[in-house]
Parts: sequence; structure tokens; C-alpha cells
Amino acid sequence: MSHNMNDSNSTSLEKLIKHYYNDTEELIIFINADNSILTMNEAAKRVLNYESNLDALLESFCTTCMGYTNEHALMTCMNCFMKENQTKQSFQLFLKNDVGEAVAYSASYVVLNDTSGVKVLTLQNVSPQLRTQEILHQKTITQKIINAQENERKRISRELHDSVVQELLNVVVDLRLIKYKQEDELDKHIQLIEGSMFRLMNDIRNLSLELRPSSLDDLGLVAAFRSHFKQLEKNYGLDVQFDTNILSERFSNEIETAVYRITQEAILNALKYANVDEVHVLVQKEADELIVEISDNGDGFEIGQTPQGTGLGLFGMQERAEIVGGSVNINSEKGKGTFVTLTIPL
Ligand SMILES: Nc1ncnc2c1ncn2[C@@H]1O[C@H](COP(=O)(O)OP(=O)(O)O)[C@@H](O)[C@H]1O
Ligand SMILES: [Mg+2]
Repeated sequence: MSHNMNDSNSTSLEKLIKHYYNDTEELIIFINADNSILTMNEAAKRVLNYESNLDALLESFCTTCMGYTNEHALMTCMNCFMKENQTKQSFQLFLKNDVGEAVAYSASYVVLNDTSGVKVLTLQNVSPQLRTQEILHQKTITQKIINAQENERKRISRELHDSVVQELLNVVVDLRLIKYKQEDELDKHIQLIEGSMFRLMNDIRNLSLELRPSSLDDLGLVAAFRSHFKQLEKNYGLDVQFDTNILSERFSNEIETAVYRITQEAILNALKYANVDEVHVLVQKEADELIVEISDNGDGFEIGQTPQGTGLGLFGMQERAEIVGGSVNINSEKGKGTFVTLTIPL
């Protein structure tokens, strides 16, 4: 009785597994101990373009496999699960589809627990999941950018309120007082108003310069840098040692903006956190790339550690670099200073 039960159970399990094998969209491939392919299900045959030639199967897998396990790695067949005795049981794999695009698969690999040495490779197409992830990632980035913009607006609004509006109020009060002034006091009083107006002009000029230095558009990077560095020296006593091999050469608007803003942020960070009164900036044009280095010999920090501030600056630097196809590399060590390198392909 119980023997019969087991029998019928195992037949139905076999049947179910067979159905699953035939119907699933998962690629299931049985591989012999000598790495030749034993058999595969219909889903696998569709992707690997397998028709009937069993000998071509292994090769068919290798020409479909793109030889890398993530989108950043160069094509490499090192540590191929087929050749090495891989201990890793699940991994990612890219296969070429019929139009030659890379499709991501989540792969798992099981050595059957009998003496045959047969291995089973199952592959699941994870492109839709990756796309969802990509969209979510894009959304968080957009949200971060919007937040950063809002913060910047708050800062400008505060700046306008605290400096410009306050100063204007002073002027209004001083103007009202004119009619009560004696002849002999008038000169002094008007001078006072004039002084307020000059301070106002300066505040607005600084604010406008900070928002978008017109020299960047009119005269280019070097001129804009020189005037910005002069301002830093004047306002904060920071000495910027500037060295470059570009003179009045112009680059695209996007590149100039990225270089200017990234450098500005890196210097501001040194000013805020490094405890230095000197920063080095090097802008070097090479055959096919623009390299910008901003360095200080200050306090440094540990990358990945909780930032003292918002952490948005470094994030923004990375974003701006990516927009022009470049990258930012940050090297910092506690007590040894910080080295920011921006590389932009030309
Ligand atoms: N040049 C530097 N020297 C020392 N610490 C730095 C430097 N640059 C950045 N940091 C550290 O990295 C953190 C992140 O910087 P950033 O993303 O620009 O944010 P924020 O400027 O808003 O603080 C800072 O809060 C600071 O702790
Ligand atoms: Mg910053």
C-alpha cells in the first residue's frame, strides 16, 4: 500500500517537474561532468538558438554568453563557471539576444548530488527587474537634485533677505531722516546713504557672481577662475595656487560649467572642512581629455563616513561630471589632505 503511494507520488512529481521543465520561461541546461551539454529545455533552446546539433551546443552557449557578469566589467572569460570548479552557486550572466543586445540573467548552478557529476544551470531573465530598479534609481536622483535646487533657492532667498533687504531698509530710514537734518549735518548723512548704496551694490554683485559669473560665458574658464580666486582671497583670505596650460581656449558651455562648479565646490569644501589657507588648482588639457585637480593639505576625511555637512556637494560633483561624460575621483586621508580629480573626455 505505502509502496504504491510512493510510486504514484514519484510519478506525479516527475510529471510535474517535466511540465515545469517544458513550460517555464527559465532556461534550464544540464551539463555533463566534461562540460559538454547534456540537454536543455525549450526556453533555453530559443535563447541559445539551438536547433538539433548537439555538438554545437557548448559553443552555442559560449557565443551567446557575453563573457562578463556585470555591465562594468570588460569581456572576460576568467572564472567561467563552465571551466572552473566554481564555488559560487549563483551569479549574474549576460547573454546576447537575437539582435545582439546584452540581456541580464540571474544564474544558479547546482551539481547533482549523485555520481554522474552532472550540473544544472538555470537562468532567469532579470531585465524587467533591472529596468524597474533603474527607474527607481533615476527617481531618487531626480528627487535629490530637486531638493538640492530647493536648498539653493532657500539660501539665495535668505541671502537676499538678510543682506539686500536689510540694507535697503537702512537706506529708506536714512532717507526719511533727511528732512529732520540740519544743514550742517546733511553732507555727512548723505555720505552715509551713499555708503549703504555701495554696500548694497557689492552684495548684489557678489550674489550675481555666485549665481552665474558672466565672465565664464564671456571670457571662459581661466578668466572666470582668476576673478573667483581673487574674490576668495579677498573674502576669506584663501590663497588659491592656480596652474593651467589652457589660456583663452574655450570649451562647450556644458564642460565649462561643469569644471567651474566642481572646482568651486571642491574649494568651498576645503575652505569649510580642511582647515587650510591654501588650495591648489590645476587645469590641464591633454590630447583628448581635460584634467582638473583640486587639492589641499588639510584635515582630510574618510570616504563613506557620515559627512559633517549634507553630502550633497560630492554627489552633485559626480552628477555634473557624468552629464559631460566625465568622472570625479576623490582621494582623501585623515590628516593628509584631499585630492579631487575631474577627468572629462574631449
Ligand atoms: N577638502 C575636504 N577636507 C575635509 N573634509 C572634507 C573635504 N571635502 C569634503 N569633506 C567631508 O565630506 C563631507 C561631504 O562633503 P559635501 O558632499 O560637499 O557636503 P557639504 O559640503 O554639504 O558638507 C563634508 O561634510 C566633509 O565632512
Ligand atoms: Mg560641499
